[in-house]
Amino acid sequence: MIRLKDLHALKAAGEKMVCLTAYDATQSYWAAQNEVEILLVGDSLGMVVQGHDTTLPVSMDEMIYHTQMVQRRNHQAWCMVDMPFMSDATLETGVHNAGRLMKEGGANMVKLEGRTEFHRQLVSALSEQGIPVCAHLGLLPQSVHKTGYRMVGKDAAEAEHLLADAQRFEAAGADMLLLECVSPSIAKVITEALTIPVIGIGAGPDTDAQVLVWHDVMGLTIGGAPSFSRNFLADTGSVGSAIQAYVKAVKTGDFPE
Ligand code: KIV
Repeated sequence: MIRLKDLHALKAAGEKMVCLTAYDATQSYWAAQNEVEILLVGDSLGMVVQGHDTTLPVSMDEMIYHTQMVQRRNHQAWCMVDMPFMSDATLETGVHNAGRLMKEGGANMVKLEGRTEFHRQLVSALSEQGIPVCAHLGLLPQSVHKTGYRMVGKDAAEAEHLLADAQRFEAAGADMLLLECVSPSIAKVITEALTIPVIGIGAGPDTDAQVLVWHDVMGLTIGGAPSFSRNFLADTGSVGSAIQAYVKAVKTGDFPE
């Protein structure tokens, strides 16, 4: 079973790590069997599983339900689970709901979106309760109605803010950082500046780990996958080989380009 300390050791050794979303027992079984180190029960399930336009409608009970399924067949990978929209609106509800994901779902770590002082306080509060936390910066899908979907950190001022935010989250007790749709140059700077592992999606090749959405990897995404993603099933022909190809591509630096 992969632990947090193993992931920190892989970063220290400069070895790339692989993360894949999973929403049910079959997906987690195939991912963990094929050397995926981190499973993400993402609230992207609201879009790719439930068919919503955004991640906002996903509830706590649904996240717990999907995490239980994922953990039933995962005997290997580290399991990170999203705090759904508004489940962390106050410190009290945030701590309570993170506890539910760990106790009822069987999560190993929670992930929360947000870049403010409030989110850092929540990271510290969770850390004090012994709950590992991944901070999610860059594009924040739960804030889509305020910010839209766009690449973050392209101009110098925004890049500087992002680096400062990342360092503050590490200081607040975050055990991992996820950067979504972040300019590759600042993603590289942040990865080198932090001691905790940094996972990227649409953030270039230099983060410690890469994450993709299962449906994008398998070419199943309705309406097409984002341009930074790759369909690994197209050239391999089976789910197991597609995951192996994804793992190999990340480990050797072939993905992302
Ligand atoms: O919900 C999710 O799947 C995510 C990834 C896109 C990083 O947060």
